[in-house]
Amino acid sequence: MATSVKKQPTLDTDRLRLRPFRTSDLKTLHALYGDPENLRYWGVSPSPDLDTTRKMMRWHLGYHPAHYVIWAVEERSSKRVVGMINYHRREKREKRVDVGWLILPEHQSKGYMTEAGRALLRHLIDDLKVHKVEALIRAVNKPSAALAKRLGFRLEGGPIRDRWLVSGAWHSVMIYGLIAGEER
Ligand SMILES: CC(C)(COP(=O)(O)OP(=O)(O)OC[C@H]1O[C@@H](n2cnc3c(N)ncnc32)[C@H](O)[C@@H]1OP(=O)(O)O)[C@@H](O)C(=O)NCCC(=O)NCCS
Repeated sequence: MATSVKKQPTLDTDRLRLRPFRTSDLKTLHALYGDPENLRYWGVSPSPDLDTTRKMMRWHLGYHPAHYVIWAVEERSSKRVVGMINYHRREKREKRVDVGWLILPEHQSKGYMTEAGRALLRHLIDDLKVHKVEALIRAVNKPSAALAKRLGFRLEGGPIRDRWLVSGAWHSVMIYGLIAGEER
């Protein structure tokens, strides 16, 4: 696959399908982005209402594959969307990209994001020839740090002070990194 791929691929795993979001996924997208408890360590404020999520969806779907791609994480057995995974801030010259992940509370602790994360890493490294994948994670976000480590990321630094501004409050983050070949 060319590293300048224009179309977002669908990525299949044993239990999941990573596919583009559709406008019909709006309610699930809102369940994901409108839950203040689940998003307590997130880098952006939760969406207050469906209209805001609708606008957010337009932004997500207007992605430029060179820099940002979001996948709906669909459970293959039920065909229901249970989460999202993305890459962003892709730096083509430096072959580097950031990743983010989010799953509905009722689907946590099933290993779904580990499975989705592995598929995304394979795509980034094998298809897009990315050399370095990074994840910014707040020190308090133990499940996300555990996921990063399970996938092969290493803690590289931090706290990077006042990196995120969320609902008027500054948050510091840790930086996790994975170099091609270190994925598990
Ligand atoms: C971060 C987040 C995606 C992690 O989700 P998760 O469900 O813990 O991660 P996984 O899907 O990989 O599941 C791992 C868990 O499933 C268990 N598991 C069960 N079957 C498994 C399998 N086949 N493979 C791997 N793990 C499995 C693991 O033991 C682990 O259990 P634990 O939660 O008791 O430690 C989730 O907490 C989340 O959405 N948080 C809110 C959003 C957020 O903060 N995102 C990150 C911002 S930096």
